[in-house]
Amino acid sequence: MSLLLQFAAYFAACSLALVQADKSVFEPADFDVAAALGNYGVNTSAIASLEISKEQSTESACLAACGTLTSVFGSHRVLAENTPAYNNFTGSFWSAQQEEVKPRCVFKPAKNTDVSVIVLLSRLTGCPFAARSGGHAAFAGASSSPGGITIWFKDLNEVTLNGDKSVASVEPGNVWGQVYKALEPYGLATLGGRASDIGVGGLTTGGGISYYSNEYGWVLDNVESFEVVTASGQIVTASETKYSDLYWALRGGGNNLGLVTKFNLYTIPSPMMRGGARIFTQDHFSDVLGAFVKVVHDAPRDPYAQYYIAFVSAKGANIASAELTYSKDVADPAIFKPFRSIPAVSDTTSSKTLIEQCDEINSLNPIGLREVYWTVAVQLNEEFANWAVDYFFSVLPQVSHVKGINPALIYQAVTEPMLKNMTKYGGNALGLDPAKGPVHLMHISCWWADTFDDKTIYKFVNDFWDTVIAKAKDMGIYNRWIYMNYASEFQDVIASYGDENKDRLQSVAGKYDPKAVYQTLQPGYFKLNRVPAVFPY
Ligand SMILES: Cc1cc2nc3c(=O)[nH]c(=O)nc-3n(C[C@H](O)[C@H](O)[C@H](O)COP(=O)(O)OP(=O)(O)OC[C@H]3O[C@@H](n4cnc5c(N)ncnc54)[C@H](O)[C@@H]3O)c2cc1C
Ligand SMILES: *[C@@H]1O[C@H](CO)[C@@H](O)[C@H](O)[C@H]1NC(C)=O
Ligand SMILES: *[C@@H]1O[C@H](CO)[C@@H](O)[C@H](O)[C@H]1NC(C)=O
Ligand SMILES: *[C@@H]1O[C@H](CO)[C@@H](O)[C@H](O)[C@H]1NC(C)=O
Repeated sequence: MSLLLQFAAYFAACSLALVQADKSVFEPADFDVAAALGNYGVNTSAIASLEISKEQSTESACLAACGTLTSVFGSHRVLAENTPAYNNFTGSFWSAQQEEVKPRCVFKPAKNTDVSVIVLLSRLTGCPFAARSGGHAAFAGASSSPGGITIWFKDLNEVTLNGDKSVASVEPGNVWGQVYKALEPYGLATLGGRASDIGVGGLTTGGGISYYSNEYGWVLDNVESFEVVTASGQIVTASETKYSDLYWALRGGGNNLGLVTKFNLYTIPSPMMRGGARIFTQDHFSDVLGAFVKVVHDAPRDPYAQYYIAFVSAKGANIASAELTYSKDVADPAIFKPFRSIPAVSDTTSSKTLIEQCDEINSLNPIGLREVYWTVAVQLNEEFANWAVDYFFSVLPQVSHVKGINPALIYQAVTEPMLKNMTKYGGNALGLDPAKGPVHLMHISCWWADTFDDKTIYKFVNDFWDTVIAKAKDMGIYNRWIYMNYASEFQDVIASYGDENKDRLQSVAGKYDPKAVYQTLQPGYFKLNRVPAVFPY
């Protein structure tokens, strides 16, 4: 071959490579935000409020962004500060910490492209945003943006079934109670939350333990596809076969990849179930923990059972409340014999619909209190499970003086069938090893009355877990994995998924969001490379 021809072949190969490289670029380096807004009908040069915003303070950026939203969508879609509708919104978070956050405005999208517009406007102005589904994340800024724009999905609340009813398309303004109500007439449900007011958005992108999880896996393992607004405003549907890297990353990656505007969830039959709490006194705790360990080990033999045990102090007495559910209407399933053979103070178990069960759990979780969730995982071990409960009750008097306090240590498990089901559809991002089960998932849930006591509580819970982790490490049973939906703002959830999954999440985010919009302009909640807050005490 002549030199000239070789060159020609070389250049042809190069330009081919360039074309291919271009195709794999999701957002080009010269992406034009204003032009993209134009494609959604927002002419930035015609909007006066945008002119003042060039690289000024966050405050002026957000005034410009909120003003623009109002002129494009109208004031019924953009709640301004100090209006009754705005106050209604801020007053309706589960935790007081989130209620205290004051966004510059609250935007209520009516369709998925409205979400594209707000993300692009945030990019154009530099005004930060946060997004709220059910608003049950506990810590400040998780789903409301201080001084920025909070996107409230409330009006994106459709639930529709596909032709053969195998998939329900659920918009992120729904809470689980609404989803179950929409599907009940068809005798169907989806995997989902266990309390009615929990949001579809946060629970699913972070994990999701359902009453049906021993049968099918976690909620994120039962998503057929996600419709998602990416950082460039483009809307794609990510599934096992299309945008499969994004599909994987959305299952555990939280809010770092995009805003999901449709969760397409596989449906399941939903017959009557059994549920209720069986309450035990402290003299039976070791039997209760023996029953817990046995039931977890029996999960592969009976996938219909689900359970968690809350250890609490009620009116001076230490009790264990075992919430035992069975996804079929069976009065005394064999798997629960170990619990039923322990004498109980009370037992509310009865047959219920899924909705009745979720309403009951919901009523135990009032809104508007100061709240913390904080979680640690270990390999299931009965001796350790007993030790940790004893230790919890031994330190509890340290905080008994705190006004309105109600701390609970809650035990659940990531069972073997759950772990196996986590390998479905290419696996999820959580980084749990299916060979290393069952996992004992512990969390502290605590509410209290006054801001004044925040430090006391955070320090108490932090110290408790420090000791528990040290003991678990000593026994060789510590599991670094942290469950996002139960994590405190001081925990590095993404790092806990392991280096490989963290790197993979970062590379997927780099592909679909090369300017890291979802990590910088949406600073709240668990980010790929940092904790939400550094423990200050
Ligand atoms: C009373 C109670 C009961 C619970 N029960 C369960 C249970 O049964 N099983 C379980 O696994 N967990 C449970 N949890 C934990 C629960 O999963 C988390 O609190 C979860 O974050 C709640 O989701 P949300 O949509 O209500 O929260 P939000 O505060 O609205 O959102 C949490 C995070 O998710 C992001 N997000 C929300 N929607 C989207 C979206 N569409 N796209 C991208 N990101 C989004 C938000 O921006 C925010 O960062 C419970 C919590 C409480 C308080
Ligand atoms: C956008 O607005 C400017 C200023 O009002 C106007 O000159 C321009 O024609 C508009 N562009 C489009 C595409 O409507
Ligand atoms: C505030 O919330 C209540 C209860 O949900 C509702 O009835 C009322 O209409 C709301 N007010 C405004 C101004 O949105
Ligand atoms: C999911 O769990 C069920 C019930 O325990 C089990 O039969 C099934 O094989 C699991 N699925 C996978 C993919 O492992």
